[in-house]
Amino acid sequence: MFLKNAWYVAAWSHEIEHTLAQRWIAGEPIVIYRTEGGRVVALEDRCPHRRAALSLGRLIGDSIECGYHGVTLDCSGACVKIPGQELIPKTMKARSYRVVEKWQWVWVWLGDPDQADEALIPDFRWNSEPGWTYTGGSIDVKANYQLLTDNLLDLTHETYVHAKTIGNQAVIETPAITSVVGNEVHVKRIMSNTKPPPLFAKVRGTDSPIDRWQVIRYQTPANIAIDARGYPAGSEDMSQALRWFSINSITPIDDKTSRYYWTITRCFALDDQALTELIHKSILATFMEDVVVIEAQQLRMQTDHPDKHEVGIAADAGALGARRILERLIREEALASSAST
Ligand code: FES
Ligand SMILES: [Fe+2]
Repeated sequence: MFLKNAWYVAAWSHEIEHTLAQRWIAGEPIVIYRTEGGRVVALEDRCPHRRAALSLGRLIGDSIECGYHGVTLDCSGACVKIPGQELIPKTMKARSYRVVEKWQWVWVWLGDPDQADEALIPDFRWNSEPGWTYTGGSIDVKANYQLLTDNLLDLTHETYVHAKTIGNQAVIETPAITSVVGNEVHVKRIMSNTKPPPLFAKVRGTDSPIDRWQVIRYQTPANIAIDARGYPAGSEDMSQALRWFSINSITPIDDKTSRYYWTITRCFALDDQALTELIHKSILATFMEDVVVIEAQQLRMQTDHPDKHEVGIAADAGALGARRILERLIREEALASSAST
């Protein structure tokens, strides 16, 4: 079960051109393209005639000609041509999705278009804000998307999984404070006068002690911004500090696979291309360490005997909070849709 009335990242904006691209989001096939005027269009990737994939067809102007028998649909999904007949049945159309480009990404509203609310797109302004520069990518993961949100909401794993980059003892020695605020989860860990983890030392060029912040904000369905800071211990001198946001949005492809969109966006040394490359390489390697753990978890979820259970610990608080919020919203959505039918 997925939350339908929600925005999901379908692509990086730069990936979508005037050519047909294909994505699956929460089990739904979607064809995406940019019109000649530059607007991004998303339609169900399913020809209303015999279900051929529209993404295998071709663009004629801003319309898609199905590659099987030539039925042609415009960018609203309406049929504009059926070869060999004049009459176009009203039902010959493809569903169209609401699309917004924001914070470098293409967001698709999976549910009722009338309920699409741009204000629900998470606040990832640092991907686009003047004074900030980002690097990022997307990773395909053979695991349920919630295993990735669990991971980002419990950073104690950094100590064990990411000892080469962003993890060290200070993370597990400092308790996090978790709070649920409306439909958001906030997790905060402030580590005072502590040894910097290896990547922070490399980026700042010193391993002198720091005050390290991790301030995590979760927004449904699977969006997490982490405000990460490393100040020289005892000061809040930004000129000596490391500060970046780790911006994460996880799009379920189906219930066992996901595409993980990420950026690291920083507000210092903006023009230092070598630093950007170092951060990109190190963070990608860090996330690939997560992928190994998470794909193994997924495999056990699929192969375990049903009487196997998990045992919770205190550090799960953030992840559990997010799961409860999402579960409630999905339940409410199902109730509202059964009431309206
Ligand atoms: S399946 Fe698309 S035209 Fe026949
Ligand atoms: Fe991680």
